[in-house]
Amino acid sequence: FKQKTAYEIVDCDWSSDVCSSDLGDVWLSPHDRPLTREELCDAVAGADAIVCLLHDRIDDEVLDAAGPQLKVIANVAVGFNNVDTDAIAKRGTVWFTNTPAVLTEATADIAMALILMTTRRLGEGERVIRSETPWVWSMFYMLGTGIQGKTLGIVGLGLIGQATARRAKAFGMEIIYSGRRQADPAIEAELGARYVSFDELLETADVVSLHCPLNAETQHLIDADRLKQMRSDAFLINTTRGPVVDEQALVDALRAGEIAGAGLDVFEEEPKVNPGLLELENAVLIPHLGSATIETRTAMGVLAATNAVAVLNGEQPPTRSEEHTSELQSQSTISYA
Ligand code: DGY
Repeated sequence: FKQKTAYEIVDCDWSSDVCSSDLGDVWLSPHDRPLTREELCDAVAGADAIVCLLHDRIDDEVLDAAGPQLKVIANVAVGFNNVDTDAIAKRGTVWFTNTPAVLTEATADIAMALILMTTRRLGEGERVIRSETPWVWSMFYMLGTGIQGKTLGIVGLGLIGQATARRAKAFGMEIIYSGRRQADPAIEAELGARYVSFDELLETADVVSLHCPLNAETQHLIDADRLKQMRSDAFLINTTRGPVVDEQALVDALRAGEIAGAGLDVFEEEPKVNPGLLELENAVLIPHLGSATIETRTAMGVLAATNAVAVLNGEQPPTRSEEHTSELQSQSTISYA
């Protein structure tokens, strides 16, 4: 039978490896940019499988545009706040998959890099050199904050949170964490991590690193009140999703010296960045690079394509939700790493 798969990945040698020609037609986006809404709806029309990216909003409109033959949505990301899983679930015949685990190490590297960049003022230092601002080594020049013996507060000890904690531990940090559930005792023991309330974490951590998924519960989890709870010498790191932090409240807190600095890989309205952040020396800002290594993006693409192909072949996709998507009512059944 004739199938169509809409891939929104460009230049991917792996797509031809994973997708054998007997799968039917494969439409590959020719653009290395997000598709417009119209392009997305046109591309998915008649597709049996959609392999989509984190900026593609997959909702009723897109599912309707695809048509009733649609069998699987394979998101090339671990986070899936771009996907209306209820809209998928109510169709009853569409699988949903994401790409957990394969981007854990790359994203934790970026979280650790941001911890070092913010505490040691590396962005600021680089701007001095690049702007040819006169400088000279002196005892008190551009002093940062050492992290050895300091406390890292991990919000959400999933795979990425754990991998970040592992790195921070190697740098001599103590680990506390909060989240919906206490971690496995073996993980706590390995990381020397202590489960605390969210209040205690905010009030005591020297560095707060966010690793929870974005959903209705975590939207603006870090707002003006939460920022006030943090220590004035503490740093906030966000490598999960921008809307977990109220960006304007963060700008206000950084300006007022309520916290010492912030390292952000993600923004509330990507690719826009709150102009207030751009003026702040104590904000380190990078463009959603968490998973941006050749190896990791390849692994993510291959996994998403493998998920889609499995469903088209009538098999269970490797990183499927626990139950068939028709029974998927709770996002907690999908792995978040
Ligand atoms: C994800 O997979 O959720 C990452 O943010 C991609 O970079």
